[in-house]
Amino acid sequence: MPHIALNFEDGITRIIEGLPGETIAEAAYRLGINIPLDCADGACGTCKCLWKSGKYDPGDYIEEALTEDEAAEGYGLACQMRPEADVVVDILASSAACKITTATFDTTITGLEFVSPEIVKLQVKTGGERIHFLPGQYANIEIPGSGTTRSYSFSNLCNTSELEFLVRLVPGGLMSVYLQDQAQAGDALALTGPIGSFYNREITRPTLFFAGGTGIAPFLAMLEKLAKEGVSHPIQLFFGATTEANLVELERIRAFSEVLPLELHCCVSGESTTQYPTGFVTQWIDRKALKVPLYDVYICGPNAMVDAVKLALAEEEIQYENFYTEKFLPSGLSEAK
Ligand SMILES: Cc1cc2nc3c(=O)[nH]c(=O)nc-3n(C[C@H](O)[C@H](O)[C@H](O)COP(=O)(O)OP(=O)(O)OC[C@H]3O[C@@H](n4cnc5c(N)ncnc54)[C@H](O)[C@@H]3O)c2cc1C
Ligand code: FES
Repeated sequence: MPHIALNFEDGITRIIEGLPGETIAEAAYRLGINIPLDCADGACGTCKCLWKSGKYDPGDYIEEALTEDEAAEGYGLACQMRPEADVVVDILASSAACKITTATFDTTITGLEFVSPEIVKLQVKTGGERIHFLPGQYANIEIPGSGTTRSYSFSNLCNTSELEFLVRLVPGGLMSVYLQDQAQAGDALALTGPIGSFYNREITRPTLFFAGGTGIAPFLAMLEKLAKEGVSHPIQLFFGATTEANLVELERIRAFSEVLPLELHCCVSGESTTQYPTGFVTQWIDRKALKVPLYDVYICGPNAMVDAVKLALAEEEIQYENFYTEKFLPSGLSEAK
């Protein structure tokens, strides 16, 4: 039986025994270690980990979950990797985060507000229980009557039973049509979570946040936490949207910059405005402008935006110690496998 050493971000290591043919994620879950996992199908990339030693079968997955470059750098997907001998892997989350169990909660819609013509702020309330999530994580929300779910990042903290999400409506999309045409306060929504390893770690050096569209949602939760705790290192938030109206929650972000060393840079890609530069967030990835020798980097938004930011950072040779991404992959992707 292969032994699997799981190194967590906080320096803790657990060695577990895998059963023949079991994936790393299956072995971990069987033994009560909830490493971040969503699709369990090689489609979302949530379970990405870093291989250190030993032989394994990487399994099947799609490029959006793990790129060729990432595989070449030693990354693998714990839900697909089958050890063929003793292996050592770095889990990209702390041991504490892996103890957070995912559960399904019955919630009720308490608010539906169009914060832009394309973006709805969805507010729900549990029956009183608190969902313990880390700011930056997400939940899978069931579309009533469809038996299917969509993923959404929490955009507030877990201090109360009230939860908030920002949803960009996609023409003809299942959840989008439900929210636009049918949803009303009082509707029941089943929510499963928390999920994901995109949550904010302690800020120990200058940090870059890149948000595309509703990719601002997890950063709102993170900034709310940081504003409560205080931070001494500078944070630069680069926020891009297709239209000026889709640069949502700016007042809230500006309030955070009153209490945090936070600099906000906004841009708009799909129209010209008098207030903001036209183009994508990559315009600020400039060696001369980003002078600090080492950053931590967080990126969240559509697939293409996350990849463009990664590429621009590499091209400009911006150095970083820690690098975290959340891709808002369209839900149909797993079927393309
Ligand atoms: C981890 C994770 C977190 C996410 N968090 C958020 C969030 O906080 N806020 C948010 O708005 N979205 C988020 N998403 C995206 C979200 O889960 C849905 O994919 C999106 O809301 C569309 O769902 P739908 O049911 O309306 O459309 P679907 O029925 O899934 O799709 C309908 C059609 O539109 C296409 N499509 C789907 N999404 C897009 C898109 N973004 N752009 C262009 N075409 C698209 C599909 O390929 C399909 O052809 C997240 C995704 C992931 C994986
Ligand atoms: S949980 Fe492994 S790729 Fe989705």
